[in-house]
Amino acid sequence: MSHADEHAGTRRDFLYYATAATGTVATGAAVWPLINQMNPSADVQALSSIRVDISGVEEGTQLTVKWRGKPVFIRRRTPEEIEAARSVKLDELVDPKAENANLDEDAPATDENRALDENGEWLVMIGVCTHLGCVPIGNGSGDFGGWFCPCHGSHYDTAGRIRKGPAPRNLDIPLTRFDDENTIILG
Ligand code: FES
Repeated sequence: MSHADEHAGTRRDFLYYATAATGTVATGAAVWPLINQMNPSADVQALSSIRVDISGVEEGTQLTVKWRGKPVFIRRRTPEEIEAARSVKLDELVDPKAENANLDEDAPATDENRALDENGEWLVMIGVCTHLGCVPIGNGSGDFGGWFCPCHGSHYDTAGRIRKGPAPRNLDIPLTRFDDENTIILG
């Protein structure tokens, strides 16, 4: 590798981490979101979809993007996190519903019904606590290794399901789909 290549690689890494540290990464912005920002009328916002480049998300890490004014967590789960989520029985859950906008309202809260892909590697959720709206802390936080909301002590598991504390519902899953293997579309 030439010195120039090395430099480019380092710079890309730096940019990635620096952006991630702010908690928000706007990717694939194209023209749409810019127009929305300049004309933030409710109806345009309600219709807005965004594309998110997930190619830089390492296993065991989470990308947070802002969508329709809310944080959205995009986590690439480890095999251990997936296994932990899939070994939970439905009768152990506080909220038995998947709370997944891509499925029927009554779909059960199995991990398969929460994950975006069949293998369960990707979990995409609105990052707003269902108690009173704080943003939970991720990266294996809380008693169930998923997310923890410090506002009043709500613990979510590795599928974002509420397991302990005052929050009444699992973290909501927004309309999400893959566009290609490196890109997901929210909305
Ligand atoms: S807002 Fe999260 S526990 Fe109250």
